[in-house]
This record gives sequence, structure tokens and C-alpha cells, in this order.
Amino acid sequence: MKILMLVGSLRTGSWTGELVGTLPALLPAGVEAAAYDGLADLPHYDQDLDGDDAPAAVVAFREALRGADALVVATPEYNGSIPGVLKNAVDWASRPRGASPLDGLPAAVVSVSPSPRGAQWAREDLVKVLRVAGAVPLEDAVGVATVHETVVDGRIADAEVETALRTLVGRLVDAGRERPAA
Ligand SMILES: Cc1cc2nc3c(=O)[nH]c(=O)nc-3n(C[C@H](O)[C@H](O)[C@H](O)COP(=O)(O)O)c2cc1C
Repeated sequence: MKILMLVGSLRTGSWTGELVGTLPALLPAGVEAAAYDGLADLPHYDQDLDGDDAPAAVVAFREALRGADALVVATPEYNGSIPGVLKNAVDWASRPRGASPLDGLPAAVVSVSPSPRGAQWAREDLVKVLRVAGAVPLEDAVGVATVHETVVDGRIADAEVETALRTLVGRLVDAGRERPAA
């Protein structure tokens, strides 16, 4: 059972990345989880590039998605929605239409913010975008508010948030195991 984790912030010291780093410890034994580190290498989506000879970074990304049983997608909020890097990644992943690596892939959405709103708009938009792109976002996406107080020394310091995230990733594992073989 393999979970691929996408982080919607590229910056060093990203809170979203910090939060994603706490998730493997919440998973049942035997479940592998790895963050994908190639999102910055994806070019801007361009249908002219998206043919039989797609860019290597795109091929690698699609292969990583095909090798995963389930997806965690974590996002900060930029101007009331998801960052362009994440939307761009979803756009590449959503093709080829009808045979995309996202088709039927269970996805747990987590939004992360230093603000008290927990990046709610980004969370809602990400659920919508993933669903339109063919993935299967779980109910009860989690928003992590005031993340600078919630993640301390690489661990979740808030029991309620930890329970919500443990429940979410537990459901993701169940959904990944139940997913029909491609
Ligand atoms: C371009 C930009 C737009 C932002 N827009 C919002 C916003 O709409 N809502 C919000 O809560 N925070 C917003 N922020 C603040 C981010 O939530 C904050 O910088 C956060 O730490 C970014 O996530 P990261 O730590 O994972 O990089 C914005 C930050 C940037 C750089």
C-alpha cells in the first residue's frame, strides 16, 4: 500500500510541508507514504506539450501517480484558492482524458494555514478540482488552522487535530485498499 503526498508549497520551511511530514507517523504499519518532490519541475500546462512526447517531468509525475494506491494533497491558501503549482500539477495529472492517473484515485485533502480559518477556501477548491479531474476526494477534508502553534518540533501538538488527521488517513488507507485494481 503506497500513498503519494503532494505539497502545494515549494518554499523552504513551508508549514504545509511540515504538516505533511507528520502524517507518516499516523499511518498503520505497513503503509508507505512519500512526498513527491518534482512538482516544481513541471512546466506550465500546455496542450501542445501534452502529446506522445510529453516532458520528462510530466512522465515521471504520472508514473508516480500510477504507482500510488492513494493520494494526500496538502495545500496552503493563496489569494483565496489553491496555489498555481498545485492546480498545474492536477491539470497535468488529469490527462490523458479517460485514462488519467487520477481516475478513481482516493485523495485525502488537507489545507494548512497560519490563520484561524485553516485555508478553508483552498480546501473547498481543492476538493472540487480533484473531483472534476477524476480523483475521489474523501469526505471530511481537514483544515489545520494556526499551524505554527499546531505543529511543534515536527509533531502535532493539538490532540483534536491529530485525531482528525489520523481518522482521515485511516479512511484513505481503507479507500486505497478497496480500490478496484486498474
Ligand atoms: C501569494 C500569497 C497569497 C496568500 N493568500 C492567502 C490567503 O488568501 N489566505 C490565507 O489564509 N493566507 C494567505 N497567504 C498566507 C499563507 O497562508 C502563508 O504564507 C502560508 O505560510 C503559506 O504556506 P506555506 O507555509 O506552506 O508556504 C498567502 C501567501 C502568499 C505568499
